[in-house]
Amino acid sequence: MTKITPPPQCSFEPDDWLRLAQYWHPIAISSEVTNAPQKVTLLDEQLVIYRVKDNVVVARDICPHRGVPLSLSTHDSEGIICPYHGLRFGENGRCNRVPSSPDQAIPAKLHLLTFPVAERYGLVWTCLAPAEDEMPALPTMPHWEDEGFQQIVCPAFDVAGFAGRQVEGFLDVAHFAWIHTETFADPENQVVPAYNPVETPYGFSVDYWSTVGNYPASSDYRAPEDFKWLRHFEMHLPFTATLTIHFPGDARLVIMNAACPVSARKTRLFAPIARNFDQHIPVEDVHAFNLKVFEEDRLMVETQRPERLPLDLTLEAHIPADRSSIAYRRGLKKRGFGEFFLA
Ligand code: FES
Ligand SMILES: [Fe+2]
Repeated sequence: MTKITPPPQCSFEPDDWLRLAQYWHPIAISSEVTNAPQKVTLLDEQLVIYRVKDNVVVARDICPHRGVPLSLSTHDSEGIICPYHGLRFGENGRCNRVPSSPDQAIPAKLHLLTFPVAERYGLVWTCLAPAEDEMPALPTMPHWEDEGFQQIVCPAFDVAGFAGRQVEGFLDVAHFAWIHTETFADPENQVVPAYNPVETPYGFSVDYWSTVGNYPASSDYRAPEDFKWLRHFEMHLPFTATLTIHFPGDARLVIMNAACPVSARKTRLFAPIARNFDQHIPVEDVHAFNLKVFEEDRLMVETQRPERLPLDLTLEAHIPADRSSIAYRRGLKKRGFGEFFLA
């Protein structure tokens, strides 16, 4: 594994790029990664991702021989095969065949530049430039592995906006009554009771109690009169948050908002979900409901100005309901992030 620097035409400030490159980011849905190569983009870096003998390889999408994108490759059981001169790259991105000189030793220069891989929560994660001394912590998801919980991975959802704005929207509890009225919220229930984010090693957590229900608008279920819903958020900086919703009784729904910063202006949102109730409801319905919620947010996230997230708190006006958003901006600032974008 070799370290890399910001790619040409990078949309991020170089310092922010280097900092972001030290974290794990989700790049694909595990079940969609096969022996056939796929192209993905993370932090403006073009990557190829493929599976060989059950292991996932993430590498720069460029053949070390003459620079052809390896996402154009064909494949066999031993790896992916560059279309130009047939070099094959297998486990750990190592070149294992040079068809034009099959009897020669293969120099290390022909191996791919690969990145660390983790498969968790139904997603493939990578980290482009881990800090010298230690790997970053992968975000955690409550209940994912717990007995009685079903695991669901929503299809990826692309947003033409900055991951920071998208994640902040996920943490925002004041917009339910305005944006999410077709899915779960009540347009009359607008008041946001006080809540307090608590700092954690990876960001912060929040317990938000309110009477805003979470049954789909189309469902006949109703919570008991005066039921207080608890929404427990855990922010894992920079771009992954989980929300655990406490339904009546022991019913729990966990949604992970894992935002992949494709570039400073594009985000691919992954959403693993765990639930211990309603398991008879088809997963397709769960996908559809959650994609509808994200779709409701789209216009806001894609039109906010500035596109970047202003970490200087004096640049936007705040209301008492914004405690999570303020904690988010402070957390990013504390980790050294700056303006995020090149103009
Ligand atoms: S460019 Fe890939 S094998 Fe030559
Ligand atoms: Fe929303």
